[in-house]
Amino acid sequence: MEARSCLVIVLAAGEGTRMRSARPKVLHAVAGQSLLGHVLAAVANFGATSIAIVVGPGQDAVAAEAKRFAPDTECFVQNERCGTAHAVLTAKSAIAARKPDDILVVYGDTPLVRPQTLARLRAPLAAGDSLAVAAFRPADPTGYGRLIVAGDRLIAIREHLDASAAEREVELCNGGIMAFAGKTALAILGRIGNQNRKGEYYLTDAVEIARDMKFRAVAVEVEEDDVRGINTKKELAEAEAVAQQRLRQAALDAGVTLIAPETVFLSADTTFGKDVVVEPYVVFGEKVSVEDGAVIHSFSHLVGARVGKGASVGPFARLRPGARLGENVHIGNFVEVKEATIEAGAKANHLSYIGDAFVGAEANIGAGTITCNYDGIAKHRTAIGKSAFIGSNSALVAPVQIGDGAYVGSGSVITADVPAEALALGRGRQVVKEGWATRLRALKSIGKRKAGSQD
Ligand code: UD1
Ligand code: CA
Repeated sequence: MEARSCLVIVLAAGEGTRMRSARPKVLHAVAGQSLLGHVLAAVANFGATSIAIVVGPGQDAVAAEAKRFAPDTECFVQNERCGTAHAVLTAKSAIAARKPDDILVVYGDTPLVRPQTLARLRAPLAAGDSLAVAAFRPADPTGYGRLIVAGDRLIAIREHLDASAAEREVELCNGGIMAFAGKTALAILGRIGNQNRKGEYYLTDAVEIARDMKFRAVAVEVEEDDVRGINTKKELAEAEAVAQQRLRQAALDAGVTLIAPETVFLSADTTFGKDVVVEPYVVFGEKVSVEDGAVIHSFSHLVGARVGKGASVGPFARLRPGARLGENVHIGNFVEVKEATIEAGAKANHLSYIGDAFVGAEANIGAGTITCNYDGIAKHRTAIGKSAFIGSNSALVAPVQIGDGAYVGSGSVITADVPAEALALGRGRQVVKEGWATRLRALKSIGKRKAGSQD
């Protein structure tokens, strides 16, 4: 049997004014990924053969984000917001050109939609239905379109504003995701008018039109989270909570030990190997991978970092973008690593900044070591050879290289390269003055007696 083709149309011409933000609504993030990114990830995983997105005028950033997740996405601009059916027809040429077996319409602001839910919506089309609509039962149905069903058929959707008192009693609501059989879609969509309270072209009118044309429409009940739309910062925070819950569950299912899962924050793209332990209160920003057997101790913050096998990070460590830790590397408390490769077995256990650097295998970076990578104009690199030993409280002024096996004395300011196996000292020489303190105290006591005799 040949696989059915499926065009997914993402509606994203939202105004988003209730977010009180200059940023387009669908570019706000949940679990470190834009709302639109979540939708497109679900669409891609579900097996769409082509994707079209409808954006508002001037929303180039939205189109660009869509292409970042799905490079072949075709973008359409809806110049005037005339309703959901009008938005879908903005992408009419994609429907006409591709002649898909199935068409799925999803909203760009529903980040929690899952691939399996999209697949369930599409399933009735393969069975010969013309239209399937995602149904759910919200605690408060106000504002949603109500689904009017008769037996196993969906016969109409009544928008809240246009619904009668009796219709408003209906609890089953339109979640917004709709699936259309490709061969009847344009005939149905072409008949939708705008004779309603809002004067908009309602996609929901497709149901009654399908019925008039003797096509079959059905409702498919889904979980509320799948159709949860984001309009406000409060709803964004609620979606974040659901997304975190799902990511923690997935990590646990994959065998990660989360001692207090509710305190660990993950990104949609965080990846873990086997036997990883994450202690309480750890934040994983975007693009972090943690390999087998690594331990992330409490209060660590990681973004754009790779943690190698068996490595130990934290407590209180900060890994910034470009931190690449090799096998069994130790990064301890109050250590910050940025754009640095740290090779197997190297250690920086206390109070350090390692930025724009290379640290060779088995090197030891003493407490308080700082790579001085910035001269106020440009960034420079520090290279530390394998098995080198950097004494505590040293400043390595980049660009600078410390050779393999070399030693740097504690408290040094290193401004010139250090050859392999050498010792470099860059600090004031210690001076000892025997008996100096005794003499000082004696002088002070003479002074005190003189001052006393004057009263
Ligand atoms: C819509 C449904 C309603 C459903 C609800 C679920 C219609 C007529 N109503 O109502 O039955 O219960 O969603 O959340 O479809 N959009 C455009 N261009 C437009 C209009 C909308 O791209 O001209 C996009 C929006 O960005 C949004 C989506 O379509 O992503 C839904 O539009 P919105 O105005 O929020 O529809 P609702 O009134 O909430
Ligand atoms: Ca809405």
